[in-house]
Amino acid sequence: MDFLYNVFAVLHFVGWAIVLGGYIASIKGSGLYRGVFHGAATALVAGVLMVGTAEMSGMWDDGGPSMAKIGVKLVIALVIAVLAFLAKRQGAKGDNGTGPVSPGLKHTIGALTLVNIVVAVFW
Ligand code: HEM
Repeated sequence: MDFLYNVFAVLHFVGWAIVLGGYIASIKGSGLYRGVFHGAATALVAGVLMVGTAEMSGMWDDGGPSMAKIGVKLVIALVIAVLAFLAKRQGAKGDNGTGPVSPGLKHTIGALTLVNIVVAVFW
């Protein structure tokens, strides 16, 4: 189970790295790297599976992370995934999938991802 948990943890970090990296690489242009939605979806599912494997194997029996923190991260991550899906749909209209995306949408994805990293580390 520990091995499985670690596999999901790697996917969790790589997924969020794709979201933040894709956002930063697209900050200046008008579009958003189209892998951002896939990164968010992968990281979200991996996070939920981390919680599942940890609970099932008793890894957190003597005190795991705060469930309030996991709940907050889950809500923010769901918002990020929906926004990234909308951005992917907007971008699909031009330039081989990287057409213009509303700046508000794009920067909210980047900002919420940063917020969740701070929540994950400091809470
Ligand atoms: C934008 C969203 C998210 C970001 C940026 C993020 C980032 C992180 C980071 C940086 C860590 C390492 C924390 C540390 O070791 O100090 C972490 C751990 C973890 N994340 Fe996430 N995460 C997000 C969403 C989620 C979601 C939706 C879930 C599950 C529902 C989740 C479950 C976990 C678990 C179980 C851990 C390991 C335990 C812990 O340290 O809290 N994460 N995440």
